[in-house]
Amino acid sequence: MRIGILTSGGDCPGLNAVIRGAVLKGTEINGQEFVGFKDGWRGVVAGDVRPLERGDVRGIGKQGGTILGTSRTNPFEGNGGPERIQENLDRLGIDAIMAIGGEGTLAAAKRLTDAGLKIVGVPKTVDNDLDATDYTFGFDTAVQIATEAMDRLRTTGDSHSRCMVAEVMGRHVGWIALHSGMAAGAHAILIPEQQTSLEQVAAWVRSAADRGRAPLVVVAEGFKPDQTDDAHSERGLDAFGRPRLGGIGERLAPMIEELTGIETRATTLGHIQRGGVPTAFDRVLATRLGMAASDIVQEEAWGRMVALAGTEITTVAFEDALGKLKTVPQHRYEEAAMLFG
Ligand code: F6P
Repeated sequence: MRIGILTSGGDCPGLNAVIRGAVLKGTEINGQEFVGFKDGWRGVVAGDVRPLERGDVRGIGKQGGTILGTSRTNPFEGNGGPERIQENLDRLGIDAIMAIGGEGTLAAAKRLTDAGLKIVGVPKTVDNDLDATDYTFGFDTAVQIATEAMDRLRTTGDSHSRCMVAEVMGRHVGWIALHSGMAAGAHAILIPEQQTSLEQVAAWVRSAADRGRAPLVVVAEGFKPDQTDDAHSERGLDAFGRPRLGGIGERLAPMIEELTGIETRATTLGHIQRGGVPTAFDRVLATRLGMAASDIVQEEAWGRMVALAGTEITTVAFEDALGKLKTVPQHRYEEAAMLFG
């Protein structure tokens, strides 16, 4: 079996470890061959491939980014579509596709599988917002990076007796904010799942300052302040037509300063959270998912993706994985909120 691997959507630490896991298990145990599609679905539609042999994945498990490149190309747009893609696969002698990507990638993979293409999936999102898997690789790395950044913000905040606002990723869900905020001892954590009033934020900030602490407020980019239905966006739309988020921290800082009288500064961590080497946890998870993805190709389990259930790798049908966000449950937020202020 000859397999074409693609990485699609926003990059994520651990993508290379998935590729390495799949290629090593696939070539050594399952008798498979691999090629890499360049830049996600763009490479599939254009028939643009690169070799992916054992030597090509040497040492990449600890590398950030993706050696295959990525894009937010929709395989149904432009010259795409199932017939064109199948023609490319036939011409290149590729029997099956392994698609590593998030919600948009897996939705496209499902449509193509429904049209008869042979595809398996590996879920990817730093936001950790897919309900069908307990954790996604890249999330642990993002939390680690955000926590280290907050530890640094706290020492400069302490020196100046300032309130520091740290904005982290999290379009629909607040997992990165919750975990990094808890790890860094934040005095307030603001997430998309919870409506929190500015007065409440100001009260937490004042309470921390009254005890002689420099307040740390962590906010997820998708947080919606009081009386707003949409997350803060001032940078237009991305290639999927989604608002490009970012900037809520900068918007909140002067409001907090005005309400509390405490000098406040905001830092947006942005893509730093997605760059650089994956943590050991993410390397192991990604490697195991890649190995399991090679196995489900061997089983011809088309239309399924690998997932983590507890500590075990399992599989889930695309349709059962799509459209279901893993939000922060109320009890997890309340548990963190006990320590606010
Ligand atoms: O979807 C994952 C994510 O990290 C979101 O939290 C964020 O809004 C988005 O990617 C930004 O990605 P990019 O700037 O690459 O489009």
